Amino acid sequence: MQNLNVGLIGGGFMGKAHSLAYAAMPMFFWPAPAMPVRKVIAEATDELAGEAARRFGFENSTSDWRSIIDDPDIHVVDIATPNHLHAEIAIAAAEAGKHIICEKPLARTGEESKAMYDAVKNTDLVHMVAFNYRRTPAVALAKKYIEEGAIGRVISFRGTYLQDWSADPNSPLSWRFQKSIAGSGALGDIGTHVIDMARYLVGEFSSVNSIMSTWIPERPLQSGGADKLGNVSGGDGPRGAVDVDDEVLTMVKFANGAIGSIEATRNAHGRNNFLTFEIHGSEGSIVFNYERRDELQVAFASDPADRKGFRTVYTGPATPYGEGLWPIPALGIGYGETKIIEAYDFFKAIAEGGSVSPNFADGYQTALIDDAIIDSAETGAWVDVAKIDS
Ligand SMILES: NC(=O)c1ccc[n+]([C@@H]2O[C@H](COP(=O)([O-])OP(=O)(O)OC[C@H]3O[C@@H](n4cnc5c(N)ncnc54)[C@H](O)[C@@H]3O)[C@@H](O)[C@H]2O)c1
Repeated sequence: MQNLNVGLIGGGFMGKAHSLAYAAMPMFFWPAPAMPVRKVIAEATDELAGEAARRFGFENSTSDWRSIIDDPDIHVVDIATPNHLHAEIAIAAAEAGKHIICEKPLARTGEESKAMYDAVKNTDLVHMVAFNYRRTPAVALAKKYIEEGAIGRVISFRGTYLQDWSADPNSPLSWRFQKSIAGSGALGDIGTHVIDMARYLVGEFSSVNSIMSTWIPERPLQSGGADKLGNVSGGDGPRGAVDVDDEVLTMVKFANGAIGSIEATRNAHGRNNFLTFEIHGSEGSIVFNYERRDELQVAFASDPADRKGFRTVYTGPATPYGEGLWPIPALGIGYGETKIIEAYDFFKAIAEGGSVSPNFADGYQTALIDDAIIDSAETGAWVDVAKIDS
């Protein structure tokens, strides 16, 4: 079993999630496809980097991410920074011959995503974009049911991602509210996860018609340089402009004839991580809610009339990824497990010399869908989704 040295760039929320996954992946999936070695972590300053190394178990730290790219001992570059740095880091990593896992959205725009895809497409590097929610075992089970024909031909998809952490007008002007850093708001931050699930479960988008709104146009500037998320009050100090969407609603036509809708907002009081889908097929329906992520609700047209209705299937050893996770159904899948499974599939692809989905092609295609959603919200018209030239 080979050791693969990881250079992780960004020690915030996702730095924590990815570090946990590298430590835990071999504990869950054994024999592991390869052993992730937490070699170097980069942060914005030496102090932050040193602290992140101690906390997340990395051997070394740096405030210069380029030193990770230049280090011949690093096999894997993990990009967990805000979105504006993804393209520059990924392209440098590809040129240096490193395998890359990059947080979502792949980049701020379709154009930036194309440059990233172009940098990897004619190489044998493994590249992955971290849409981890498709690796929730219940979502992978929905995929299995659809592929097996259990609900027949898919005719519709209703997806939501609703949170409430930005509903407070006094929550600070995080990078997530700044177009120059984030690219877009609720769309790129959380809507893209639903778009990824829709592509995974239903298929390619052909056109979209969308509405986008910004509910809170100004937020308190942050002091102290640290970015704060969620239930933190920015107080009465100076405010800066929010130039991204708070909410997006889009209707979707899929290339296979199915239709659907996608909604995303971070301003929905009472919703926490309400990432859901309801899929209707000619022979049944499937419902998923991440807030009850051990469960899949299924209803089949073939059930006897006096037994028709939704039933609950709990994921466990008999469902996807069950061989590595917990030995009893409903014991509890968490956010960490989705990242552990993601790390497992990524390292497996490297060890076996294969590829993994979603990769930079998927990230680029999703970015083109985001671009079409923004265009259609601006024009009020249906907009065809451009197809990547693969
Ligand atoms: N897959 C998911 O479920 C999920 C969830 C949250 C965030 N994300 C994505 O992960 C990425 C990071 O988001 P986050 O929530 O961890 O943000 P965050 O703000 O918590 O962390 C980002 C970190 O990057 C560091 N950083 C900034 N500039 C740097 C530089 N030049 N060199 C090294 N480090 C630098 C910051 O100091 C910060 O600690 C984003 O692309 C975001 O969209 C994905």
